[in-house]
Amino acid sequence: MIYLDQAASSFPKPPEVVQAMTEAITEYGANPGRGGHALSKRADDTIRRTREQLAAFFGFDLPDRVCFTSNATSALNQAIKGFPFVEGDHVLTTSFEHNSVRRPLEYMKKTTGIVIDYVNTGESEWFDLEAFKSNITDQTKMIVITHGSNLTGKKLPLDVIGAVARQKQIPFLVDASQTAGVLPIHMKEMNIDMLAFPGHKGLLGPQGTGVLIVGEGIELTPLHHGGTGSRSELIDQPDLLPERLESGTLNTPGIAGLLAGLEAVKRMGLDTISEHEDRLVSQLINGLKKIDFVHIYGPEHDRLGVVPFTIAGIDSQEIAIILDQHYNIAVRAGLHCTPLGHESIGTIEHGTVRLSVGPYNTKEEIEKVIRAIAQIVEGYFG
Ligand code: ALA
Repeated sequence: MIYLDQAASSFPKPPEVVQAMTEAITEYGANPGRGGHALSKRADDTIRRTREQLAAFFGFDLPDRVCFTSNATSALNQAIKGFPFVEGDHVLTTSFEHNSVRRPLEYMKKTTGIVIDYVNTGESEWFDLEAFKSNITDQTKMIVITHGSNLTGKKLPLDVIGAVARQKQIPFLVDASQTAGVLPIHMKEMNIDMLAFPGHKGLLGPQGTGVLIVGEGIELTPLHHGGTGSRSELIDQPDLLPERLESGTLNTPGIAGLLAGLEAVKRMGLDTISEHEDRLVSQLINGLKKIDFVHIYGPEHDRLGVVPFTIAGIDSQEIAIILDQHYNIAVRAGLHCTPLGHESIGTIEHGTVRLSVGPYNTKEEIEKVIRAIAQIVEGYFG
């Protein structure tokens, strides 16, 4: 099997992730933060170390504001639906956002009356800051952007957008679903107020893990209320983070796996991971470009490990099925939960086939994938 669906969930995981999760389940499967006994303390210690390591990795000083969620979608829902928006508040975002940003925003539009601008940031690597900035109004209460498109792999410049947000004092929320564990992110230097990301993609952790880091000065209404293991005498949710946003038992085995994944990423090094993915992407693009009827979307240079393509007039799902069933190659086809993104690049009708690479893919695999696509085209067009 050749797995090129890394943008959906990374696979395989480093062996130490499996080991850390197994240890958590077999050696200290107790409830973290709920008991004073040794097993509970050990579970709590894993959680605390993971908060500390994540805070340090993302250039953030306050580990207690690193809140665990079940995935990036929950983190983004908390950040958007928990934000104190009032009617008429404006949110500036892009047309390449995933539904995990768009749907909570649209929900807030319906229920609270916020106003949303989706700026088309284009397919190429160029980001037009002035055009983006021209959409900011006196009512803009949040800028939300994806750091990297899950459709085209286009990267957005967090540093310059963050500088604008800081200058205008607009809270800046970043969806790092495709970039956490792949590109450097420094919340302080990039003026990021809230950072949401999954544990199971670039950070190489297990599914069921996600994180929202909440900067100082941002007050969110919790989406969930319940037991936090602290201030149990209160009828209201405690004010302090992280427990304010973390009702219920945490996913200790998952978080242990996430910590091990993070450590694996640090050991490999972000530069090494990015350079490896860049090489595979260049190989893919160069190979696919030579095949008639194949159209590739996204930036020519400097993109994430994501390459979407179409084959003239053929439904993307059909190509994905052939790749899976005849060649044992796993890809994701369709709209990738980003319909506005597909509208922006003109692929809403048939979707695209998305190839996405990770640290464990090899150039031999890419060669096989290019050959398979060439054969599929040959089969259709002779
Ligand atoms: N957001 C994930 C993707 O792009 C699931 O496939």
